[in-house]
Amino acid sequence: MVNLGVLVSGSGSNLQAIIDNIEAGRVDANIKIVISNVPDVYALERAKKHGIPSRVIPHRGLKREEYDQKLVEALRDQGVELVVLAGFMRIITPVLLRAFPLRVINIHPALLPAFPGTHVWQTQIDYGVKFAGCTVHFVDEGTDTGPIIIQAVVPVYDDDTADTLNARILKQEHKIYSQAIQMYAEGRLEVQGHRVLAKGMPKAPDSFMINPPAKILE
Ligand code: GRF
Repeated sequence: MVNLGVLVSGSGSNLQAIIDNIEAGRVDANIKIVISNVPDVYALERAKKHGIPSRVIPHRGLKREEYDQKLVEALRDQGVELVVLAGFMRIITPVLLRAFPLRVINIHPALLPAFPGTHVWQTQIDYGVKFAGCTVHFVDEGTDTGPIIIQAVVPVYDDDTADTLNARILKQEHKIYSQAIQMYAEGRLEVQGHRVLAKGMPKAPDSFMINPPAKILE
């Protein structure tokens, strides 16, 4: 059983998926606290509905390091072991990372290391990639550069908009974030340099997708 602290800034659909998977017994974790830097966001409602303690810690007027120190205190107070960034729209400093070394994870709506940064749905469409996806990674001191734990791939279609692609990616985010937490809880993740090895996980060496579909091979 791993004690989580979930940091949010918005709607919290990833938080919801994690809550649902914990309640269904699929993830061996306990959300000790949900912290938002923004008041009145829907993620806080979700926590409340499920009886999970939550706090608003506003960032206004604080240096990034000062803010992170507050986060560290709040997370330590609750005995948090793994910090889960779920739509938390703040840049994390070494203050948080040193307090939780290789214990801060994030989800990003692209197949890293391609398309780091924010609002990357339209960027992926404009680039013309035929596949997009999402990535759960350990957070390091760079932006979206930390060791990759798990990724999911989705196709990109000619008539996609940022919204349709976001929706397709988000569905997979809701699966892989919980999967990453469960692998952590099971002690399967071993970081070697920049690689994360997932000990004892099954392989699917013949799985593949082609987009547009390979009509000539049907
Ligand atoms: C998702 O797009 C995620 O990839 C990004 O922030 C968004 C969070 O959405 N890191 P939600 O608040 O979990 O619905």
